[in-house]
Amino acid sequence: MIRLENVSFSYRGQGPSVQNVSFHAEKGEFIAILGANGAGKTTTVRLIDGLIKPDSGKVLIHGADTAESSVSERARRVGFLFQNPDRQICRNTVREEILFGLRSVRGDEKEEALQARTDEILKDFSFTGDEEPFSLSRGQRQRVALASILAVEPEILILDEPTTGLDYLECCHIMDRIRRMNEEQQVTVVMVCHDMEVVLDYAKRALVMAGGRLLADGGVREIFRDAALMEAASILPPQMIGLSLRLGKGFEQCDSTDTIVQTVLDARRGGAKHE
Ligand SMILES: Nc1ncnc2c1ncn2[C@@H]1O[C@H](COP(=O)(O)OP(=O)(O)O)[C@@H](O)[C@H]1O
Ligand SMILES: [Mg+2]
Repeated sequence: MIRLENVSFSYRGQGPSVQNVSFHAEKGEFIAILGANGAGKTTTVRLIDGLIKPDSGKVLIHGADTAESSVSERARRVGFLFQNPDRQICRNTVREEILFGLRSVRGDEKEEALQARTDEILKDFSFTGDEEPFSLSRGQRQRVALASILAVEPEILILDEPTTGLDYLECCHIMDRIRRMNEEQQVTVVMVCHDMEVVLDYAKRALVMAGGRLLADGGVREIFRDAALMEAASILPPQMIGLSLRLGKGFEQCDSTDTIVQTVLDARRGGAKHE
């Protein structure tokens, strides 16, 4: 679905922001890109979206080179949810917002089909359609932006810090909806996220970046348990992973309070003396 081959990119007059990055993602994967500020995460997802083209190397989306494909082809396949929903919302009602996105990407389809798709997605997100986006809360506006992206039914969903500025419940709302889409429609998700707890809860694979380079690519749990890697990338792993590492032998599989407590209880029942 996504293939980067030795991709490098520099913004005008700057050193490389992405250097020699290669990886590929299959349909239905849920990948997080991790790294400190300035590591090159946003640049990488913009390259995947085709907003910018590599200086060298190739970005292939479903086999098509982004340097050669058209904006409309890519918009049909790739949805991009920004950190700030207000960069995406431009209409006065939620219904118009969703229709606007649909018309711009699926304008070749019949108006009735677009209206029907709008009704479907409004219902799915529990919007009436008459809401005015700018009178909604930040979390609700992020849901409007997500709804209008999902309306188009992209094959790839890119999220750049989707939960920044949201409270815990709003974050769960958004992330659960994204997970459903990933699991039910096999949409490939690539997410840049600063919240390592969210990464642990939702992503399955992680790419770790530092200084524009890809340092590691692997399962989220294995990545978080690699202390040297976390240090090199200036990432603080989720608290429960940190705790399980400190607890040591017997706690390797633990990544939540539940699994840690259960491991202690099992050890007691088994009569083992845990330090
Ligand atoms: N629009 C831009 N123009 C010039 N330099 C940029 C621009 N966007 C990012 N950079 C630079 O590219 C590097 C990587 O940035 P970015 O991809 O935004 O990192 P991240 O998302 O990991 O914080 C940084 O050094 C940053 O200063
Ligand atoms: Mg960024």
